[in-house]
Amino acid sequence: MPPNPEVGSQFYVQQKNAILAYLVQNIDQNLLERGDEAQLRARVEELVEEKLRAEKVPYSRQMRNRLVSDIADEILGYGPIEPLLRDPTVTEIMVNRHDQVYCERFGKLELTDVQFRDDEHIRHVIDKIVTPLGRRVDESSPMVDARLPDGSRVNAIIPPLSLNGPVLTIRKFSVDPYTVEDLIGFGTLTQHMAAFLAACVKVKLNIIVSGGSGAGKTTLLNVLSSFIPEGERVITVEDAAELKLHQPHVVRLESRPPNIEGKGEVKIRDLVRNCLRMRPDRIVVGEVRGGEALDMLQAMNTGHEGSISTIHANSPRDAVARLETMVMMAGMDLPSRAIREQIASAIHLIVQVGRLSDGSRKVLSITEVQGMEGNVVVLQDIFTFRQKGISEAGKVLGSMQPTGLVPRFMDRFAAAGINIPADIFRQTSA
Ligand SMILES: Nc1ncnc2c1ncn2[C@@H]1O[C@H](COP(=O)(O)OP(=O)(O)OP(=O)(O)O)[C@@H](O)[C@H]1O
Ligand SMILES: [Mg+2]
Repeated sequence: MPPNPEVGSQFYVQQKNAILAYLVQNIDQNLLERGDEAQLRARVEELVEEKLRAEKVPYSRQMRNRLVSDIADEILGYGPIEPLLRDPTVTEIMVNRHDQVYCERFGKLELTDVQFRDDEHIRHVIDKIVTPLGRRVDESSPMVDARLPDGSRVNAIIPPLSLNGPVLTIRKFSVDPYTVEDLIGFGTLTQHMAAFLAACVKVKLNIIVSGGSGAGKTTLLNVLSSFIPEGERVITVEDAAELKLHQPHVVRLESRPPNIEGKGEVKIRDLVRNCLRMRPDRIVVGEVRGGEALDMLQAMNTGHEGSISTIHANSPRDAVARLETMVMMAGMDLPSRAIREQIASAIHLIVQVGRLSDGSRKVLSITEVQGMEGNVVVLQDIFTFRQKGISEAGKVLGSMQPTGLVPRFMDRFAAAGINIPADIFRQTSA
């Protein structure tokens, strides 16, 4: 037995497992069921002390504290990932293997020292998350989306689909999502771009936020939605409700996956159609992924202006192409020119966001959809981010610049009494 047992050593792990087994046998079932955190934690502490004393293990104060908290997490929470869930600087948790857990902090991936005992241990935590929601994960349904009680988004996928063993990904829910000031502070967009976007939302342009996975689409959608004037009736449609709007008049709809028997699914598309019958002033769709694109475009073209949504795409041009594909998925068999015309007349603005190599998230372009020229949807950048290089510390260097072009819908601002000075579109020398 090592005289100074190191936290995290094999010895530590053995001790922890032995104490856990002891605890499971000795803890009062009633206490567990009552679920009073403070009481349970106190009892766990007692039992850990008791066991360590009985074994005459020489332990440091540090090791004792760590044992108590690890064991309490195991019994009361989601096991080894609990410290990451509690850490407010962690935004994402990725369990790739029982002994390989990454997290994201400040936009960067980090390998953590968190470990599970084995694959079974990960499965146990997954079950702990999904079972209370009436979902399950097993060979017959090896992928599941779920949420933690705090709203964090969870995806679990297990063999045979995952070749790594059970894989768990958690996007943590931020209690107070970023505001426009936060994003300006992070350098995601400039004051001018923010003022411009706010005006675009107020005059009810139809806006699509485009970007890759984790690029910051939902965060920006939330910020754009915050510019919707208070008097309007907003209906949000999402797969997993992430948006947090502060307006008083908001109705939130959330789609539903099929239940264990494979029944009862309600898709985004069903909700979009339903919400058209709910007298919306604004429709905010978390993400367009499929056939709902057609319903949205039709809605936008028939007077439901001011809709905002996101799409998974790598550029504004790609966003248009994807919208076209999605409309085809709606099964109406429209000719592609007709679809493009719908897109060109429905969408006013595409805001492209991206995560750069240094982990920062930026608005890469704000692009006006101007119409059709021949068979092509005409896109015109109004602001773009120009990357100039990378600093020695790995930081991306560059600046956001207006392209010098004034959007065609400027008259809408004037009509609404919103003053957007033309010089925010003027190029500076940089
Ligand atoms: N501008 C930003 N600056 C810094 N962090 C940001 C920014 N925007 C988003 N984030 C953080 O990045 C993570 C992903 O953001 P978000 O959920 O908005 O991305 P997404 O593009 O919607 O992702 P997904 O493709 O998974 O839906 C979150 O943890 C969020 O807090
Ligand atoms: Mg999102």
